[in-house]
Amino acid sequence: MNQILQAANNRISSIIEDRRHLHRNPELSFQEHETCAYISKRLLSMNIEHSIIAQTGIIAHIGKGDRCIALRADIDALPIQEDTNLDFASCKPGIMHACGHDAHTAMLLGAAAILKECESTLNGVVKLIFQPGEEKVPGGASIMVAEGALEHPKPEAIFGQHVYPDAPCGEIQISIGPTMASADEIYITIHGKGAHAAQPHQGIDPILIASELILHLQSLITKTRNPLLPGLLGITSIHGGSATNIIPDSVELKGTLRSFDPSWREQAIRMIQKHTEQLCALHGATSEVTILRGYPAVYNHEGAARFAIQTAQRLIGDAQVTDFEPKMWGEDFAFYGQHIPAAFWMLGVRPHHQASMPGLHNAQFTPDEQALPIGAAMMAKSAIDWLSNPIAYHE
Ligand code: NI
Repeated sequence: MNQILQAANNRISSIIEDRRHLHRNPELSFQEHETCAYISKRLLSMNIEHSIIAQTGIIAHIGKGDRCIALRADIDALPIQEDTNLDFASCKPGIMHACGHDAHTAMLLGAAAILKECESTLNGVVKLIFQPGEEKVPGGASIMVAEGALEHPKPEAIFGQHVYPDAPCGEIQISIGPTMASADEIYITIHGKGAHAAQPHQGIDPILIASELILHLQSLITKTRNPLLPGLLGITSIHGGSATNIIPDSVELKGTLRSFDPSWREQAIRMIQKHTEQLCALHGATSEVTILRGYPAVYNHEGAARFAIQTAQRLIGDAQVTDFEPKMWGEDFAFYGQHIPAAFWMLGVRPHHQASMPGLHNAQFTPDEQALPIGAAMMAKSAIDWLSNPIAYHE
């Protein structure tokens, strides 16, 4: 067995202990004060120099030298009431680590222990980034970057990982290029004119306009996008009206816009705004359109992703490393990739005896902890191998 994997396996109980502590004590995005204090305490116990940035984020450094590689874990939880029977289930009503960020944090702490042990042999600096607020726009990653997480020293590349319920425990999946989509939030209000339903000619019916608008926008998105470039619009919420005999004054719509292509994303945003306004005007109604820009697309840098694939193959064998089919999910790791080469992989956490398991953001999400040493080892080995080799991967 690979030496680093062995080192991680030797630490499995400490990695699981960290994960369970964090799982029991989840905190929402940008409120991760206890989580931050816990990570700091754990780093202190390992004698790892670190500092707090962006209020609840932590940057730590291991090693010395001119070169630098970064590893990132997100640390926040979700507003979900946990519905597992785990003895380490969340002790906070309505808050749960349902996206596995507890596991990400524990794996990075596990990698930190391994890296600290071989610090004198590291050919440079490993920068550990414990990042708050992944689940909430504008994304903790954008704040960490703005506050200098990628400076002093500037990493040559960054790696991140996410637990993945659709792959068997311990399998690593990586794609080169598009990995996750940009995700924008759409809010539309249509202002018509209320009236008695028996006298429609005295009102302007926003429900009828909303129905037309939804179909119009869907057609527009389908017919103006190169079908070879993935992108979608989902109208996911529609609210208006109160009774069978009243035409309401207004209707509210919400939705999401997702894409891998930044220029199509901008074009779609402009089209949604313009067509909503014009369609409403055609009916004598007015509209308000607010589009909150979420995260950009996660685009795995070719060199960094190829390096990660080879690293995973050396760590767990070729058969355990497969292609990740890109998803239209959002992930704020994308912000790091706008500045330096970045690669993000998925770590399978589905128990081998199960054909499926509750997914991410599900109240019953229960990843198999046997995957944790593999994720910790993959992080540590990526850093060690990158620093000891790799100029070839920079292109
Ligand atoms: Ni997540």
